[in-house]
Amino acid sequence: MSYLKEVLQAVEYIKKKIDTPPKIGIILGSGLGELVNEVQDSVIIPYSDIPGFPVSTVKGHAGNLIFGKLMEKDVAVMQGRFHFYEGYPISKVVLGVRVMGLLGIETLFVTNASGGINSSLEPGDLMVIRDHINFTGENPAIGEEITEFGPRFFDMTFAYDRKLIAKAQEVYIKNEVPYKDGVYAFLKGPSYETPAEIKMLSIIGADAVGMSTVPEVIAARQMGIRVFGISCITNMAAGISKNKLSHQEVVETSQRVKEDFIKIIADMVAEI
Ligand code: 6GU
Repeated sequence: MSYLKEVLQAVEYIKKKIDTPPKIGIILGSGLGELVNEVQDSVIIPYSDIPGFPVSTVKGHAGNLIFGKLMEKDVAVMQGRFHFYEGYPISKVVLGVRVMGLLGIETLFVTNASGGINSSLEPGDLMVIRDHINFTGENPAIGEEITEFGPRFFDMTFAYDRKLIAKAQEVYIKNEVPYKDGVYAFLKGPSYETPAEIKMLSIIGADAVGMSTVPEVIAARQMGIRVFGISCITNMAAGISKNKLSHQEVVETSQRVKEDFIKIIADMVAEI
C-alpha cells in the first residue's frame, strides 16, 4: 500500500470515532504522558487499534492517541511517540503527525526529554526549543513527492513559531518557572553520546541533545503546521555530568517536573 493510502486509512478510522476534529496536536515525550489526565470528554484510541500505527516499545511511553478538550480547545494528544532508534522507517516515525495534519491540526506542540549541554541549563529545566540541529541526515520529506503533505522544498527559518516562543516567556513568568530556551540537537541514539561528541555538539551550537522530535517538526512544517516545542532537561549530557547516564534518571526528573510541565502546556494551549 502507498504511504499516503496508509495515512488516509488511519485518518478515516479516527474520523469515525471522533465528533470534532482537533485544532491542536500534542506529542508527549518520555515521562510526560500524564497531561492526558487533563483532557476532558476524551476518546482514547490505542495505537494498536489504528490501522498502520506501530506500537511504541519504550518504557515510560504509553501508546494512545487521545482526542478531547484541553482548556476548551479541541486537541489530539499522542501519548507516546515512535523513535527512529526503535527501528522504524522515518515515515512511520512521523505517521502520527501526518495523520493529525490531515485531520486538520494547525498547531503542534512537541515535547521530549533531553540531556543538557549548555551549562546554564540544569536538570528539571523546561527548555523552550528555539531551533534544532538535525544531526542524523534522515528526513521524513525524502522520497516520492506527496502533494497532500505539502511542497517539495520548504522553509525551516521559523520552524519554531516566534509568536508562541514570545507567549511562552509570559506563561513561564506567570507560573514562576525559570524561562530557558535553546537549540535541540537530534541524534539517532539509542546509545547516549560520548563526552567528545557532546563537546562537538556544544561547539556547533547545541544546548541540549535527544533522540526525537526533529522528524516530527520537519513533517509538521512541510504541512504548514506551526510548532511549539518544550524539552525537559532530565540530566546533563556526557562529560558535562560527572555521573553515568541512565534512563531511570530521565524518567525520575520528568516525574519531578510534571506539574510545572502540565501547567505550562495547558496555559500555552489556552493562548492559541
Ligand atoms: Cl544525554 N542524550 C540523548 N541523546 N538523549 C537524551 C539524553 C542525552 N538525556 C535524555 N535524553
